[in-house]
Amino acid sequence: MIYLDHNATTPLDERVVEAMLPFLRTGYGNPSALHRLGRLARDAVEQARAQVAALVGAHPSQVVFTSGGTEANNLALKGWVQAHPGKAIAVSAIEHASVSEAADWLEQRGVAVYRLPVDGSGCVRVEGLEELSARAPLGLVSCMLANNETGVLQPVAELAQIAQDKGICLHTDAVQAVGRVPVDFQALGVQMLSLSAHKIYGPKGVGALVVERSLALQPLLHGGGQEFGLRAGTENVAGIVGFGKAAELARAELYARTEHLSALRARLEAGLAELPGVVIFGQQAERLPNTVFLGVPGIDGEMLVMALDREKIACSSGSSCSSGSGQPSPVLLAMGVEPTLAKSAIRVSLGKDNTETDVARFLRSLREIVRSFET
Ligand SMILES: Cc1ncc(COP(=O)(O)O)c(C=O)c1O
Repeated sequence: MIYLDHNATTPLDERVVEAMLPFLRTGYGNPSALHRLGRLARDAVEQARAQVAALVGAHPSQVVFTSGGTEANNLALKGWVQAHPGKAIAVSAIEHASVSEAADWLEQRGVAVYRLPVDGSGCVRVEGLEELSARAPLGLVSCMLANNETGVLQPVAELAQIAQDKGICLHTDAVQAVGRVPVDFQALGVQMLSLSAHKIYGPKGVGALVVERSLALQPLLHGGGQEFGLRAGTENVAGIVGFGKAAELARAELYARTEHLSALRARLEAGLAELPGVVIFGQQAERLPNTVFLGVPGIDGEMLVMALDREKIACSSGSSCSSGSGQPSPVLLAMGVEPTLAKSAIRVSLGKDNTETDVARFLRSLREIVRSFET
């Protein structure tokens, strides 16, 4: 199988597995326990917290472990709104479902929610926040750092400048960006940042919300007071250790991974340019080095994904949450892409272990499949 769906999830790095195994076998203590098994687990969790913090230029005390990016995003939005009743919020029009659906849920409960539009290249319009903040009592804005479908990098640092001037809290979902481009919590100027381990060769079911310590936030889960009182529940020790190791590797190998991915993507896009009619969405914008969201006009994206699957090539027709729905990508619709063209979209997301041979095989298969659809 040639795996080209790394924005959906990444395989576990073997070094991550090795780091986790002792905590699935003998290191089973509860990190809150006072005895030595408990202390061993606590030390491991705290080491992982430092590793995750280092990856994004944060202080370990700012890292709150969660069950993944979805929970981190829900905690950011719902936790902030609970602590600041009466304030309006804004989310970009291209957020992952874990932000957009949380925002819809809040809206149904009486919170004023605004959406920030994007331009034709899939980039959030900074002026949109200027205009909106002049007319609405915004307290919180959520804008992702990189879009999961197009890979387009968003102007979060610019939004942060506006937000800071107006006293607005800024949250960014950095789930897709981290490990693929440099991410620095302090330099970005955001107050909350979401992460997920399984997009950086770590395990599924673990993530983090990085939070400025002075920020008032209400927990979603109440109980034993773990994670600074922001996320109760016995810690997923092995998962957290795996996340820490994956973060350490992502930091150490960021440059090499980025170089490799950029070179592979350049080959991929050069090959795609030879296929008549192929459109690459968001190509004009700055993007993650691993992502190509493309459309072959006249061919349904989901059919194409299934045809590639028969050739043992795994890619997707968009975000995993909406794939299989038969609906065009809301991200592409927000960019103004015509619905029939949007329905042709497939996402190729490369990973650190892909090779030039993988790219060549993908291009060959795509060419043959497109030809077979034409005949
Ligand atoms: C941008 C973005 N945010 C959040 C998530 C959700 O993360 P998790 O799968 O860890 O809940 C994803 C996963 O696809 C994502 O792409």
